[in-house]
Amino acid sequence: MGSSTRESTYNYKVVRQFAVMTVIWGIVGMLVGVLIAAQLAWPQLNFDTAWLSFGRLRPLHTNAVIFAFGGSALFATSYYVVQRTCQTRLFSDALAAFTFWGWNAIIVSAVFTLPLGITTGKEYAELEWPIDIAITLIWVAYAINFFGTIAIRKVKHIYVANWFYGAFILAVALLHVVNSAEVPVTMWKSYSAYAGVQDAMVQWWYGHNAVGFFLTAGFLGMMYYFVPKQAERPVYSYRLSIVHFWALIFTYMWAGPHHLHYTALPDWTQSLGMVFSLILLAPSWGGMINGIMTLSGAWHKLRDDPILKFLIVSLSFYGMSTFEGPMMAIKTVNSLSHYTDWTVGHVHSGALGWVGFISIGSIYYLLPRVFGRTTMYSVPAINLHFWIATIGVVLYIAAMWIAGVMQGLMWRATNADGTLTYTFVEGVKATYPYFVIRVCGGVLYLSGMILMGWNMAKTIAGAQPVDARIPAVAAHAH
Ligand code: HEM
Ligand code: HEM
Repeated sequence: MGSSTRESTYNYKVVRQFAVMTVIWGIVGMLVGVLIAAQLAWPQLNFDTAWLSFGRLRPLHTNAVIFAFGGSALFATSYYVVQRTCQTRLFSDALAAFTFWGWNAIIVSAVFTLPLGITTGKEYAELEWPIDIAITLIWVAYAINFFGTIAIRKVKHIYVANWFYGAFILAVALLHVVNSAEVPVTMWKSYSAYAGVQDAMVQWWYGHNAVGFFLTAGFLGMMYYFVPKQAERPVYSYRLSIVHFWALIFTYMWAGPHHLHYTALPDWTQSLGMVFSLILLAPSWGGMINGIMTLSGAWHKLRDDPILKFLIVSLSFYGMSTFEGPMMAIKTVNSLSHYTDWTVGHVHSGALGWVGFISIGSIYYLLPRVFGRTTMYSVPAINLHFWIATIGVVLYIAAMWIAGVMQGLMWRATNADGTLTYTFVEGVKATYPYFVIRVCGGVLYLSGMILMGWNMAKTIAGAQPVDARIPAVAAHAH
């Protein structure tokens, strides 16, 4: 490509690459999710093979869906949004290619090391130290490229979506470096630099902010770009978006201790985590309302635009999980919910409903645009995807709520003489039907992703990808 084209077009190549990988890693990660869900119902599905066992595949599932599926969606959309709203090409094509190949190499290394049992044992930070170092390098390249693009922008204003993406990039860098401080003992084994309750606190400061910044802030960036675009309406309140940003960023950082209620962590720290979690309801709902109200005057579009359905329903799941989270952070509620499948239900109403739906909607928006098509190959297939995915999420989370509350109540029930009413195994037996319902929900959700894969392949086949031209006179921010 000649330099004049380079300067006058956006870099869509990296967006195409990450968008395609979002769908592929989504299918892989959810396939593993369905397998481990099935193992909980039928344990013989581990085939007596160490690397197929639940304990090894569970972290593979979480890493694949959060970092491979969610991560690719974040890279694809942030690279697209930052270019479009800054009306300039990415700061560096070479760094963009480096982040694409590097990030995928990290994922492939996870696919091998986690089933082999190579792990730090820290949830959502399981990858061993050599991979941690590689992640840091790629993340720095991403940050340079993202903020470099903001620095060379052609419009004065920095659109709010970029604030959210930027916060996500900075916070994840900080979280990763602090939580992954570890002492290597061999090539594939390290120990955390922290010990005891401090290790637990650092881990859950990381863990909760991984939710706040990896699974939320970046996806809010998606919301602020793709909802107005698809609805063809401006953001409901730009002023609210700024308040939303600062309130959310400030509050999330303090809520981590709600993962450690009734532990050796000092009691005041637990209460602090609880209070900040309750406060977090306000900015979360402020953001959700801002997204949903963007549709004012355009509600009729929801009837026949399946992409908009994905985007708007994702916001209702976001609202649900950010109401449920603060409730579960209340100590007395947590004494019932902790250790039960209620937590897993909460996780997946956020993960499948919010993160999954907003990503799927945004990628459906992106694919035709970056591959030089006017629409996806089949719009009815998007609609079908929406309905099977919705039924899938509802089956998954409803089953886990019922199972979770039931488990909590069974475990705490005592007889008049103070002995336990139920043995543990009675609780497991009672949960069995709900585990089977979850498998059904998971299979539906996965089928939707496979349908998306087919629709994507058909859209791309024979397409002539075009890199859109940058407008000569940069007038508006978006
Ligand atoms: C077909 C879809 C999916 C199925 C069937 C599925 C299934 C599962 C299962 C069975 C577990 C283990 C629960 C346990 O240990 O008791 C799990 C954990 C988890 N999954 Fe999924 N999953 C799916 C999609 C996703 C997606 C898209 C995400 C994120 C974007 C996600 C994030 C997580 C997380 C964070 C955990 C750990 C939860 C915890 O520690 O409480 N899952 N999943
Ligand atoms: C206001 C927002 C939120 C608050 C206050 C909150 C609060 C909580 C609480 C209290 C727990 C249970 C901790 C325990 O008993 O171990 C939890 C677990 C979790 N939440 Fe949320 N939540 C919020 C939003 C979300 C969202 C939007 C997502 C996903 C996108 C999410 C993902 C998770 C995950 C992955 C876990 C499980 C962590 C683990 O044990 O592995 N949360 N959350």
